[in-house]
Amino acid sequence: MTFSPLFETTKLGPYTLKNRIVLPPLTRSRSSQPGNVPNKLMANYYAQRAGAGFMVTEGTQIEPRGQGYAWTPGIHSEEQVQGWKQVTKAVHEQDSIIFCQLWHVGRVSHTSLQPNQAAPVSPSAIKADAVKVFIETAPEQGELADPSEPRALSTSEVEALVKMYKQAAINAKAAGFDGVELHCANGYLVNQFISEHTNDRTDKYGGSLENRLRFLKEITQENY
Ligand SMILES: Cc1cc2nc3c(=O)[nH]c(=O)nc-3n(C[C@H](O)[C@H](O)[C@H](O)COP(=O)(O)O)c2cc1C
Repeated sequence: MTFSPLFETTKLGPYTLKNRIVLPPLTRSRSSQPGNVPNKLMANYYAQRAGAGFMVTEGTQIEPRGQGYAWTPGIHSEEQVQGWKQVTKAVHEQDSIIFCQLWHVGRVSHTSLQPNQAAPVSPSAIKADAVKVFIETAPEQGELADPSEPRALSTSEVEALVKMYKQAAINAKAAGFDGVELHCANGYLVNQFISEHTNDRTDKYGGSLENRLRFLKEITQENY
């Protein structure tokens, strides 16, 4: 018999993982409508994969403007928190650990996904190209589309977003998650602040590398 460390326990912060298999974040677009609420189908999906020692949820929007694909779940409403409890319970029953991936797509969105059909928000009014979003065209039907022209966030709106990340983390805790993962990659909001190609701001959140990293720094340094 071949011995594999894959099936050995390991430590992750305060947690002991039952093995070293990880489920990465995978967008499924299966939340209940209206409200982008996690549901039984999603609980089954995660339960089926809870043989993994560590799981990260699909990208989960921290606020309504953070959505860039139809039917992705959120973690900003009470209904969503209650919905996620089914998922965390099902995963914990199999002794796996699950983190919620906190997501804000920023400019990678479409007016049809935004509250009041408004322009998506971004560090700067620079449109995304070479990327598609997924929009609803009819109930349970959708198609890929080009992202809409974004508008630049004001400084006070950026400060408010930092607080929204904090609230989303608090909500994740209330929903039974063991932790959160910040989605800072793939051209979404945090990444849009960091990159000089998508951030031409002249306030404290733009310009130098230190300024472009400030949004991420403030999110991580909020007192949770
Ligand atoms: C259908 C699909 C959905 C995905 N959704 C997310 C997501 O919500 N968040 C994220 O960070 N990565 C997402 N990813 C990236 C996967 O996590 C990534 O493909 C996986 O970690 C394996 O890494 P690799 O593609 O570099 O091999 C997605 C990938 C696919 C194929």
